[in-house]
Amino acid sequence: MTIWFGGDYNPEQWAETVWQEDVVLMQQAGVTMVTVGVFSWSWLEPQEGTFTFEWLDRVLDTLHAAGIRVDLATATASPPPWLSHRYPDSLPVTETGVRLQRGARQAYCPSSPDYRRLAARLAGEIARRYADHPALELWHINNEYGCHVSRCYCETSAAAFRRWLTNKYGTVENLNRAWGTAFWSQRYGSIDEVTVPSAAPAFRNPTQLLDFDRFSSDEILGIFREEAAAVRAASPSVPITTNFMGLFKPLDYWAWAAELDVISDDCYPDPVDPDSPYLAAMTRDLMRSLADGKPWLLMEQSAGAVNWRPSNAAKPEGMMRAWSYQAIARGADGILYFQWRQSERGAERFHSAMLPHTGTDSVSWKAVCQLGGELREIGDALDAPTHGSVGIMLDWDSWWSIEQTGLPSTIDYMEGVRAWYRTLYDAGVAIDFVNPRSDLGRYSAIVVPTLFVATSDALAALSAYAEAGGRLLVGYQSGITDEEGRLTPGGYLGSLAETLGVRIDEFFPLPVPGSVPADSVRLRANDLGVRDAVGIVWSERLVITSADVVARFASGPLEGEAAITRRSAGAGQAWYAATLPDPWLRSRLVAQLLAGTGVLEDAVAVPGVEVTRRGRHRFVINQTASAVSVPIAGQTLSVEPYGVRILEGDTVWRD
Ligand code: GAL
Repeated sequence: MTIWFGGDYNPEQWAETVWQEDVVLMQQAGVTMVTVGVFSWSWLEPQEGTFTFEWLDRVLDTLHAAGIRVDLATATASPPPWLSHRYPDSLPVTETGVRLQRGARQAYCPSSPDYRRLAARLAGEIARRYADHPALELWHINNEYGCHVSRCYCETSAAAFRRWLTNKYGTVENLNRAWGTAFWSQRYGSIDEVTVPSAAPAFRNPTQLLDFDRFSSDEILGIFREEAAAVRAASPSVPITTNFMGLFKPLDYWAWAAELDVISDDCYPDPVDPDSPYLAAMTRDLMRSLADGKPWLLMEQSAGAVNWRPSNAAKPEGMMRAWSYQAIARGADGILYFQWRQSERGAERFHSAMLPHTGTDSVSWKAVCQLGGELREIGDALDAPTHGSVGIMLDWDSWWSIEQTGLPSTIDYMEGVRAWYRTLYDAGVAIDFVNPRSDLGRYSAIVVPTLFVATSDALAALSAYAEAGGRLLVGYQSGITDEEGRLTPGGYLGSLAETLGVRIDEFFPLPVPGSVPADSVRLRANDLGVRDAVGIVWSERLVITSADVVARFASGPLEGEAAITRRSAGAGQAWYAATLPDPWLRSRLVAQLLAGTGVLEDAVAVPGVEVTRRGRHRFVINQTASAVSVPIAGQTLSVEPYGVRILEGDTVWRD
């Protein structure tokens, strides 16, 4: 199995004489694949319909002669100036009506017929020209879809939204019912009267907003499909990818993943954020989950600093390597960077690269070369990744909906997801992300931080999972609305209420952080030996129908009432958390949830250290700047700061 190594290569920024030096240095660094052409549109089609591929021919031939494979982009990520000059309506419009101009990148409306026609044509031209090029390994459609413009509020987008609604609802009566337009005199006489949810005087219709989020994700997926179809027509046997951006709210990656041959991701954790290791681990686990347990590619990371934070920290020695191995341990079969050679000009001239501006006599170049050499050696020996043992539910409808306005509280959807992930990560558990349609049965436990929007099928699937012997933990604000945004018929939690053995009587959301009075509530879990814990974000009055109380609120208006419950449901267990417990209590709950499943017996939990299994190998990664000792496989393994040791079975295989 090859572990690809390389990065974005933008030769159009350099004289051809530099290209020769590039390939020599690429070979020195162990580069096996580069992504070419991501931002080359104005160089490949300098005027509408005039194509100048000769320079790209020479680039690909040069790379091929050096034995370097190519991930070839369709070059559509940044439309050339002539496009919006000629078709000004192709420029996107913001929620407040500002038309964004050219001069940066991604300046296109996702619904623009001119952009889409010209993008698909260019993709087809490139695919026909290079389908049989011997350097071609992978197709890279566009780049980071939605990164800058994921929602457009122009007239063209409004028309496309109406077509999407007509397709979904058929008639205006159906739309009126689904959107609840009896409220605030919003009843439409015809779908022609509907527009995009631009800035408005008061709370906008929640179902209109949700449908607009769904539409926007679908609409951008539509561009991907058109480009992919043009590429596949000319090059049916070469796989296709487009690079994701981790936990990216605007696009429902579950829907997208199904259309990619290879999942790939761009990930730029902040070197000075102590949470970066677990946050990066989350995105790696998401990518493996989107790939349904198969390998994926880290398409972009940085060798050192980025240039888009207020202050851009460099990576201490060893960190880049440790983070690269983290991706491999969690299923990546490629480590690539933005970009190969640091730009001298342009908006990203201060962004690090594999080959820095300071040249080859630099610490970061040496780190890149070292990693390239190591990956070439270990590649063949690695097994395919596998599924995790615990699933965390991630649902874009819920993410979009719970962050609207006009709700019981202001909730950050990812706060709960991150919290439960963190607890499982700290316990050394292998984690997948799942959605309500996933095969839940393969997991020892399912954690649902918040499933605000839940279809009756989703609720039934969770109940069935627990009844069949699964360990299910459900968090607050789940089963609150159906897919139309209507409050769940029959009461919050719907059919899941019976499985959980609780009913929700009334919400008591906690004040948002920093508020006076306190933004937390005290909790007591006597049976777990936890007398003084706290909960944040949420509380609510539960009516216990058939559950055991695991923790109670110990302050505030609900003092003495149930906060966390557990019910034996069929062969399994169904837990409910009416608050977000602090890390200590969460770790106790997770230990209980997983007790008897065998999951924790296989896990190694040492603070700051990740032990991740990939087939026969276990990667022991020290994510800290201090040396650590790790008890594993009957021995104590010392691991240097940011060090990586790989075990095969019980013996150290690589350092
Ligand atoms: C990504 C993008 C690259 C480059 C990089 C900088 O978002 O795909 O082209 O801009 O960020 O970190």
